Amino acid sequence: MNLKGKKIILGISGSIAAYKTPELVRQLVKSGAEVRVITTIAAEQFVSVLSLSTVSKHPVLNTIHDGSAWNNHVDLGRWADAMLIAPCSANTLAKLASGLCDNLLTAVYLSALCPVFIAPAMDEDMWHHASTQKNVSTVVEYGNKIIPVAHGELASGLIGEGRMAEPASILTFLDNFFQPIQHQPLQNLRALVTAGPTFERLDPVRFIGNFSTGKMGIALAETLAEQGADVTLILGPSSIRPKNNQIKIELVESAAEMYEACVARFEEVDIAVLAAAVADYRPTQIADEKIKKQAETLTLQLEKTKDILATLGSRKTTQTLVGFALETNHELANAEKKLFAKNADLIVLNSLRDEGAGFGFDTNKITLLDKSGQHTTLPLVSKKEAANIIVNRIANMRNEEQTA
Ligand code: CTP
Repeated sequence: MNLKGKKIILGISGSIAAYKTPELVRQLVKSGAEVRVITTIAAEQFVSVLSLSTVSKHPVLNTIHDGSAWNNHVDLGRWADAMLIAPCSANTLAKLASGLCDNLLTAVYLSALCPVFIAPAMDEDMWHHASTQKNVSTVVEYGNKIIPVAHGELASGLIGEGRMAEPASILTFLDNFFQPIQHQPLQNLRALVTAGPTFERLDPVRFIGNFSTGKMGIALAETLAEQGADVTLILGPSSIRPKNNQIKIELVESAAEMYEACVARFEEVDIAVLAAAVADYRPTQIADEKIKKQAETLTLQLEKTKDILATLGSRKTTQTLVGFALETNHELANAEKKLFAKNADLIVLNSLRDEGAGFGFDTNKITLLDKSGQHTTLPLVSKKEAANIIVNRIANMRNEEQTA
């Protein structure tokens, strides 16, 4: 929750949706925010001032002065971390757009130095009227944030657009705004990730493949993107897709296609993480017709595929190159051999002996090996957590290189 300790002014104007505001205040207070409520005279026809003062634990303000005391709108505007106008009627919206100031709510709005959030609420036809839409554009131009209206039953009995967003949605909107800006250490860097198995065709209906699902590579692509990298994912046959639609995906089938896709892009990237389970051998020939069942035994002739990691390793200039090693015995020694033979900067070792690690699991147990001879063995963690650890290591390696 990011609203803890935040000072919020809630301005309520005259709309039937005002009846939801005690619940909105209650949720804001529950999230740790300090709330001061301002109502317009029209708002008080729809919601009880007593309810609002009870849930906000402060008197409700509604006039610039009550004859004996003056409510300092400038101080209020400066006190707040955010001002929320919910519901914002068509009338109040028009005042905000034109700078009219005839009540405490609009006076505080004009004095506010903090971000202002507006949750409109009105009937559908009023919402779609050209003047309302123009007012919405104007207030957005002034830097205010509109909390989108919802679709549903309206006060007129009609069903349509114009309902105020539900208190829970308004709360989420505000909470997201106050989310601390995440540090993105890989901003402006381009990354290439391979994931999934490869299929090597035997005939029109059969292939040689493996059990890789692509989960680990996809988690890596997502984590690299979260940390700011511009990611291209070269994905072998997998039913999984990244959730982040910023990631560019190139679908491939065979080791040869994956090789071509990686070699074509390597020069322009800063980071390459090869997590795919690439076939080491493929049939020397792909039969044009389905291979018929005949003799008791069938011998297939296979030939080596090109090693993508080794090729990229031989062409490496400033890129950080990360490979995987899947081993069943002499794990560390074999992984170390791959690190040097393929000129990678980091090898992520997976041992199939570890329970919960390997193809299809949501968890992984990995050891990171780098050229300094450092081995870091991690406990069994989720593939997402493993991806975080690997990507943080990549970010650190790039930092160290830059400062060296
Ligand atoms: N790899 C590759 N191209 C291949 C085979 C493997 O780029 N044709 C990459 C994998 O994506 C992985 C690393 O090389 O990052 C190691 O893969 P692995 O299968 O463990 O090792 P291999 O080199 O194939 O050796 P072996 O199968 O004998 O262990």
